[in-house]
Amino acid sequence: MEKFLIRGGVPLQGSVRVSGAKNSVLPILAAGLLGDSPLMVQNVPRLVDVVTMIKLIDKLGAKVRVGVENEDCQCQFDDASDPLRNEQSLEKLIDLVCSTQENAPLCLSIDASVLHNRDEGLVAPYELVKTMRASILVLGPLLARFGEAKVSLPGGCAIGSRPVDLHIKALKQMGAEIQIADGYINAKAPNGLKGARICFDQVTVTGTENILMAAALAEGETVLENAAREPEIVDLANCLRAMGAEIEGDGTALIRVKGVKSLKGTQHRVIADRIEAGTFLCAAAATRGSVILEQVDPAALDVVLLKLEDAGAIISTQGNQISLDMQGNRPKAVDILTAPHPGFPTDMQAQFMAMNSVAEGTATIVEKIFENRFMHATELNRLGAQIKINGSTATVKGVETLTGAPIMATDLRASASLVIGALAAEGQTEIHRIYHIDRGYEHIESKVRLLGGRIERLKA
Ligand code: EPZ
Repeated sequence: MEKFLIRGGVPLQGSVRVSGAKNSVLPILAAGLLGDSPLMVQNVPRLVDVVTMIKLIDKLGAKVRVGVENEDCQCQFDDASDPLRNEQSLEKLIDLVCSTQENAPLCLSIDASVLHNRDEGLVAPYELVKTMRASILVLGPLLARFGEAKVSLPGGCAIGSRPVDLHIKALKQMGAEIQIADGYINAKAPNGLKGARICFDQVTVTGTENILMAAALAEGETVLENAAREPEIVDLANCLRAMGAEIEGDGTALIRVKGVKSLKGTQHRVIADRIEAGTFLCAAAATRGSVILEQVDPAALDVVLLKLEDAGAIISTQGNQISLDMQGNRPKAVDILTAPHPGFPTDMQAQFMAMNSVAEGTATIVEKIFENRFMHATELNRLGAQIKINGSTATVKGVETLTGAPIMATDLRASASLVIGALAAEGQTEIHRIYHIDRGYEHIESKVRLLGGRIERLKA
């Protein structure tokens, strides 16, 4: 186990490159299972969740190669990543992804033209799925292309029960035969999937993504109503279209997909991670700093940028750059109500709670997406924050300064919020269980150090 040691009280200053989006690269790697030829994915971030998805795709029998992008954004594969299909090569791939020496983006090639060791069945096992819920994203592609899939039920996680009933209901409407037994989803589509009119009872991001991928190879047209509209959905749709899929309406609540017979590989560059970008902007605001983020799409963050301006930040955007300057001022409290895109992203709620903890005034934060996404509050209160929770509403009375103390991370975005709180706090903070943060932030401590933050990763 590892911990962060942070000595706060220093305004963040400087510029960092934003990595590829976790919530885009995961569905796109799963989409590699749909192609009859290799899919090359670029701008892949070095994340634990990417390693988990590589392990899963390798287990399903596809060939994975990992390379590093050179300065011309071309992929350089070394021979060690050639899939010799033995554990060693998988380990080698994983070493490459986890290496801290490089910070150039990774590229991954997924070749599912033939799935090896299929006699073991197409299984996404519990030991992998329990570490990453996004494993559910292989269900749609496996069913659509191979007519079968056995995927462990993800089970709940720290922030909520996270059911996948809407994924299953939609696939059944497309003709899949699905039984739940022994904690697994056993799905078959012996005659292939059929297009259907799907209306999601609730907006679901990975539900929309699973059905988008299933519909791409289904027979006939599929209409998705009440679809998720996140930028990551559009990124997946762009990749699927480049593979030969016929999709329109992505980014809106009504998506139409005309199934095609087969999809081919392509080369796709993953969009920037808007949540990583928003996290660094909140850290700069909380520490009264001034930062520039490179290789990010400001349009994907508009509601977050508006909230930061309400907090008193001077924001300017130019091409793929966002700059934030607090001019040395303390942030002002801003109210937050989370909602599906284009509303305020739930994945930014914890970070804004940390910023509101040191803001001028009192903020109300209402979490409408997940039932248990306030666990960072008690840890921030250990730093001296004044946060009261009442059901899905948190009231945050800003204090002038927080004071360092030992605290514990509980989930991915909560961990990020604790890093922000510790950077804003006077004195020293230890954050324990930081394995949560490595799932979704690439080399976060080296980026924080680039911005002048005093952070070290130590053995706990
Ligand atoms: C995606 O999770 C993201 N993960 C989450 O990011 C994000 O918080 C969430 O969307 C909401 O934006 C990935 O993209 C890998 P949902 P997902 O299905 O798809 C309920 C992070 O920190 N629901 O949109 O699992 C569900 O319980 C992670 O990067 C059902 O009831 O979320 C929730 O209340 C955390 N039945 C709501 O819908 C279903 O079948 C939205 O969930 C599916 C969802």
